[in-house]
Amino acid sequence: MDELKSLVLLGRQPALGLAELESLYGNDTVVALGAQAAALTIETEKIAFERLGGSVKLGNILGRLDTVNWGDIERYIVKHVAPEAASLPEGKIQIGISVYGFSESALRIQATGLSLKKAIKKAGRSVRLTPNQEPALSSAQVQHNHLTGPTGWELMIVRDNEQTFIARTTVIQDIASYTIRDRDRPKRDARVGMLPPKLAQILINLAAGQLDPAGKTVLDPFCGTGVVLQEAELMGFGVYGTDLEPRMIDYTAHNLEWFGERYEHPSPAVLEIGDATRHQWQSPIDIVACETFLGKPFASTPSPAMVATTASDCNVIIKKFLRNIHGQLQPGTRLCVAVPAWQIRKNEFKHLPLVDSLEELGYNQVRFEHVESNALLYYREDQVVARELLVIKRN
Ligand SMILES: C[S@@+](CC[C@H](N)C(=O)[O-])C[C@H]1O[C@@H](n2cnc3c(N)ncnc32)[C@H](O)[C@@H]1O
Repeated sequence: MDELKSLVLLGRQPALGLAELESLYGNDTVVALGAQAAALTIETEKIAFERLGGSVKLGNILGRLDTVNWGDIERYIVKHVAPEAASLPEGKIQIGISVYGFSESALRIQATGLSLKKAIKKAGRSVRLTPNQEPALSSAQVQHNHLTGPTGWELMIVRDNEQTFIARTTVIQDIASYTIRDRDRPKRDARVGMLPPKLAQILINLAAGQLDPAGKTVLDPFCGTGVVLQEAELMGFGVYGTDLEPRMIDYTAHNLEWFGERYEHPSPAVLEIGDATRHQWQSPIDIVACETFLGKPFASTPSPAMVATTASDCNVIIKKFLRNIHGQLQPGTRLCVAVPAWQIRKNEFKHLPLVDSLEELGYNQVRFEHVESNALLYYREDQVVARELLVIKRN
């Protein structure tokens, strides 16, 4: 493998972030580091970070140490990072340290930060350390303290088995933009459930693979209020949305108009009312990314009979949809379809029956090197209905 150049801190569900990176950049470019991070053989500038829904920080790898001894790591940082930090542009230097996969306390990490601060001060620079309340700084703290600015320096220290990776953060997720794209949309509907923009990005990226968005169309046949279409537009795809409910098509049209004005994206979307189990779509469709009908929203764990009935209802609709669209897609077309799975006990899921018969339906599952297909689940701990991401290819 080529030299590892970039380090990515993955989001709340690391398997999704890892699969997304693998989908966009290829499996031989990415390696998992510990439980929460990944390294890539490509430079940070070549990573389209703003389109990654499953990654929260990106940085340049400065060093890889064959030790996980904290004292050694601290000595390395003080020796190598202090002179470099001291040569940052004029002004007060802002430093911060985020540590992943170590058992060192926030206090111990803070002490390392103070040693680094002292060394930079000794080199004649004025410096401020962002205090560690936790071993790692949040994106909001990094942003607030300007740690990715011209005189900022956040160190990410990541453990991977018996090795340590040290990176300098160059960019973090744009929390404000995600909030606007989620909460400020004029038409929202709690009943259809709102897809977080980050998850919409993951769906599109898992479906797109290494496809260049220019001139290509993403279809969402269950478009609801249009989050997938909005995020696909932002990536540069043409968009096509259909939904059974006229009200949803109206909402999507409103939302995309708002989005087009706000993000200066003219909205050339094609929108149609249509039942995905029998609609005839216009071609071309280059990829399909959607969150299907998810069935009843359960607030507490339902009885096994209830789960079985809901699963069976959803299974009928989604199976019919996959059969219907099959004949309308070119062989090799990729889809990422978010379907429901039910958390019946902590971290134990009942899957839709059709997950086991994708081949009979004319699709092959896209396999990832670094992530098991059945690990592509998005859920909160207390949530009964999870979304399972099926990444499939029309055969
Ligand atoms: C879970 S919601 C999708 C929400 C969407 N991702 C969003 O961001 O708002 C599922 C959508 O599927 C639509 N739907 C349900 N059955 C359908 C069918 N047979 N054909 C097309 N759309 C359907 C519903 O109207 C609903 O808008």
